[in-house]
Amino acid sequence: MQIKEKINEIKNQFDSDFILLSSDKIDKNTISYKYLGRKGLLSTIYPLLSSCDNKDKPKVGKLINDLKTYIDDSLSSVVSNQNSSNFNKTIDITLPENQLSSGSIHPLTKIVNEIESIFQKIGFSSVYGSEIETDYYNFEALNIPKHHPARDMQDTFYTDHSTLLRTHTSGSQIHHMENNTPPVRILSPGRVYRNEDISVRSYCLFHQIEGLYVDRNVTFSDLKSTLEYFAKEFFGSDIKTRFRPSYFPFTEPSAEMDVYWGLNNESDYRITKGTGWLEILGCGMVDPEVFKSVNYDAKMYSGFAFGLGIERIAMLKYGIDDIRLFYNGDIKFLRQFK
Ligand code: DAH
Repeated sequence: MQIKEKINEIKNQFDSDFILLSSDKIDKNTISYKYLGRKGLLSTIYPLLSSCDNKDKPKVGKLINDLKTYIDDSLSSVVSNQNSSNFNKTIDITLPENQLSSGSIHPLTKIVNEIESIFQKIGFSSVYGSEIETDYYNFEALNIPKHHPARDMQDTFYTDHSTLLRTHTSGSQIHHMENNTPPVRILSPGRVYRNEDISVRSYCLFHQIEGLYVDRNVTFSDLKSTLEYFAKEFFGSDIKTRFRPSYFPFTEPSAEMDVYWGLNNESDYRITKGTGWLEILGCGMVDPEVFKSVNYDAKMYSGFAFGLGIERIAMLKYGIDDIRLFYNGDIKFLRQFK
């Protein structure tokens, strides 16, 4: 039958065009137009239908419809494939990537993290205190009674007569010892506040790390060797340190540790005041009065404590000459510390 042959012929022709389509030699619209267009190949079959026997017409009609559906379906499956392959082809790999904007770690946080990991290696773990503190924990329990001249060392922001913004992290010692029995080996990093004039060297808040070690037979030489270990790990094994006698109400004896920074980095003699030495921490053996506040037996236990200023160390390490840079959120400054 002539019409069936014609249908088969069109189908075979479509199949070979379809192969060309998948190899991109011909595009889908051209094929669609060629077969399904108003004057397309399918339209040439319909006139032949009239010459069919009436009884064959439904069957032949169905064959034509099936072919139309076959072509439709085949082409629409290619539409999606071709879309995605065209999409791939239009990516220009020479264009700059979309910038992922990520934050950076604040230089003070970097220093704290580094110091915490140095002390973790020798068994210290971190505890965190509250920035709003009572007079008792910030002063009294640390052997700084009311009207003690040592209170003048730390200009305090009071929120009411017995509550204040902590002036140092030393109060964490008391909180921790109240809730734990020796041996105790902790660091306590955090923000502290003092009512100081704002300048390149001082600000109304800054950061400290408190350290405390209490056990039987802890000696001053344990204190020295622990802090010397820290200085070597942090600044490098060549760093020179020295201890100078000092005074803190909560330690006896008390000392300050300096590191030798030299004069080479000193452009205006502000950093070490021309001596080459820079104080980085206060320390000492825990005063028995402090043990009394937390019901530790001072005959059985001894310990050492220290308090480090983070800003000073960060300024040294990164060569920062204005303390206010840490707090004003300038993105150009912060982005340097990835
Ligand atoms: N709290 C002292 C300050 O802010 C620093 C300090 C000195 C802490 C000696 C200590 C210490 O634990 O033993 O100036």
